[in-house]
Amino acid sequence: MNASIVLLPGDGIGPEIVREARKVLEAVAVRFQHSFAMEERLMGGIAIDELGDPLPQSTLDACRSADAILLGAVGGPKWDDPNAKTRPEAGLLAIRKELGLFANLRPITTHPQLVAASPLRADIVDGVDILFFRELTGGIYFGDSHRSDDGVTASSTMTYSTGEITRIVRLAAAAARQRRGKLTSVDKANVLEVSRHWRRVTAQVMADEFPDVEFEVVLVDAMAMHLLSRPRDFDVVVTGNMFGDILTDEASMLPGSLGMLPSASLGSDGPGLYEPIHGSAPDIAGKGIANPLATILAAAMALRHSLGLEIEAAAMEAAVTGVLDDGLRTADIAAGGPVTSTTEMGSAVAARMAAS
Ligand code: IPM
Ligand code: MG
Repeated sequence: MNASIVLLPGDGIGPEIVREARKVLEAVAVRFQHSFAMEERLMGGIAIDELGDPLPQSTLDACRSADAILLGAVGGPKWDDPNAKTRPEAGLLAIRKELGLFANLRPITTHPQLVAASPLRADIVDGVDILFFRELTGGIYFGDSHRSDDGVTASSTMTYSTGEITRIVRLAAAAARQRRGKLTSVDKANVLEVSRHWRRVTAQVMADEFPDVEFEVVLVDAMAMHLLSRPRDFDVVVTGNMFGDILTDEASMLPGSLGMLPSASLGSDGPGLYEPIHGSAPDIAGKGIANPLATILAAAMALRHSLGLEIEAAAMEAAVTGVLDDGLRTADIAAGGPVTSTTEMGSAVAARMAAS
């Protein structure tokens, strides 16, 4: 097939890890006789520096007409001034909103080879397989915000409409049906009116459309605890924008490293946006030690969800498992053993792809 993929390397380690994912995608194209047109565009801090806008119009236009978008990471201390006119992260929020990417899928699975890299005990993390659905274009991230004229108070409002809740719950419940048949919805309904609405709407959708899917509700503070004490009990988890942001960073420690975790942001149509869960890691940028596997796995999700290339996606995932079996480890997952560089890791996955 012919497909176009826009690459947004962004800031920090973004360019290094996207380069490796590109290498692997090129190997996939050769191996399976596809043609992937890959073009790079500016986004994030680098786009502020060069064009004065974290999401320039030219980037947005290219993304709209692509089949899929692969993003590295945005942000860094250089752009951290709280009084600055704009920030790299504003570009990320804008692209999510502009492309209607309301569903953020974050799979949290432990690789048996890496159980020792987790800060948690093996008997707790072994066999964890959770799929988070984080609502991505609503909630407190996009509610009204205000700073009083005297500068003494500021507010950000959390709002959810029935429609926004229904569409993400439907996707999550449908995914649960294809997996182990259980959906957990996370809210703060003992305190927040917006969460009580979330809970009512969710219960209605589940009763009307998914009576066959086991359904439970958990308060967000309790969920923070259960994720560490009994993570294997969860299959699909659905939650709002900010709770999902926080819980997925927490859950990322189950597999050991943020460096292994991909994510997909999807709308009801149009291109999906694929990126690692981790950030731009400015402290290790340019050192050639970042783990490119999350970005490579994000590229695999792009093949699956946006290009319909399930066999190719599974082959990429198998290639990642293969290099782990071979004992290759970047610094974040080395647990004191020998360390593989960013480019060696990417090349090893690409070589396995070519040979598969
Ligand atoms: C994420 C990130 C972003 C978010 C930041 C960089 C704006 O933390 O994708 O989880 O909060 O959504
Ligand atoms: Mg986050």
